[in-house]
Amino acid sequence: MRGEAGRSAAATQLPRTVRTVGELQALADREHAAQRRIALVPTMGALHAGHLALVRAARARADRVWVSIFVNPMQFGPNEDFSRYPRPFDQDLALCGAAGVDLVFAPSAEEMYPPGAQTTVEVTELAKPLCGASRPGHFRGVATVVTKLLAAAKPHVAVFGEKDFQQLALVRRLVQDLLLDVEIVGVETARERDGLALSSRNARIVPEVRQDALSLVRALDAAEAAVAGGEDSADELLRIVRCVFLQAKSAELDYAELRDPKTLEVAPPRLCVPTLLALAVRFPATGGGPNARVRLIDNRVLHPKPGLEERP
Ligand code: PAJ
Repeated sequence: MRGEAGRSAAATQLPRTVRTVGELQALADREHAAQRRIALVPTMGALHAGHLALVRAARARADRVWVSIFVNPMQFGPNEDFSRYPRPFDQDLALCGAAGVDLVFAPSAEEMYPPGAQTTVEVTELAKPLCGASRPGHFRGVATVVTKLLAAAKPHVAVFGEKDFQQLALVRRLVQDLLLDVEIVGVETARERDGLALSSRNARIVPEVRQDALSLVRALDAAEAAVAGGEDSADELLRIVRCVFLQAKSAELDYAELRDPKTLEVAPPRLCVPTLLALAVRFPATGGGPNARVRLIDNRVLHPKPGLEERP
């Protein structure tokens, strides 16, 4: 995918790159004055077809598509992969050009976090479970940087992937809570041909265990099939999911949970409304020594058969 898009990018104009918040805000003011709609796609770069799906969704909703590329230090824990996170900027710029992106905002860390910065944004409850439990402080970093990116780009629309379901829920909440005048759009997860959710981190999976990484989508499929067959017991569904991971020898389950898609509260013992199945699993990774692991996430909203809520 990247190769193909990269080749066609050779003939395309590269988008304008903006490095400072001041310049971006001035450009945003110009677009607003001309009554043009801006759509922002926030990313950390290392763009793949999933990001490009967000760009297409953005294109359909605005006159200008702006992509931000910023590997946000605040959302990485001390033992996480901040320094190893890929930063193929020139390739990203070419991909953005080929996808018809109008502008790339690529600020420095000092630009986003001016010296002496001490204000953060915390979405208290939605940040606690799932990835928040295994990555303390992660969502404070996400909420803070997303708020800043919205303040810098002043978009009418901002587009996020459903792959990071908790992040999307949290962004929707913060926009509501902080009275921000921006529409948040969620986009379905883009996948490899074999079903693996596209992620910049997939490149770190040790090739020998690549097949094991498919356990994520297999677990989602298994749970969905069970629900389609009438299964509504949360315990039974989680048992089915764990069974799938037992068959993938290298998979280390971080969490498998059933939760309310909006509040992220734990689902009741019997599912009767659409319910999020959220998964995070670690796999052996290249780089970082023999014990290095890469953590992958995936999720799906399960739709219990209608009528089950009428059961005694
Ligand atoms: P990043 O991981 O680069 O992802 C940028 C956006 O792409 C997110 O909204 C993410 O959900 C979406 N995305 C990633 N993989 C996807 C896939 N396979 N299908 C569809 N969308 C996908 O998420 C972040 O960056 C950061 O936390 C950020 C929001 C930029 C804040 O720093």
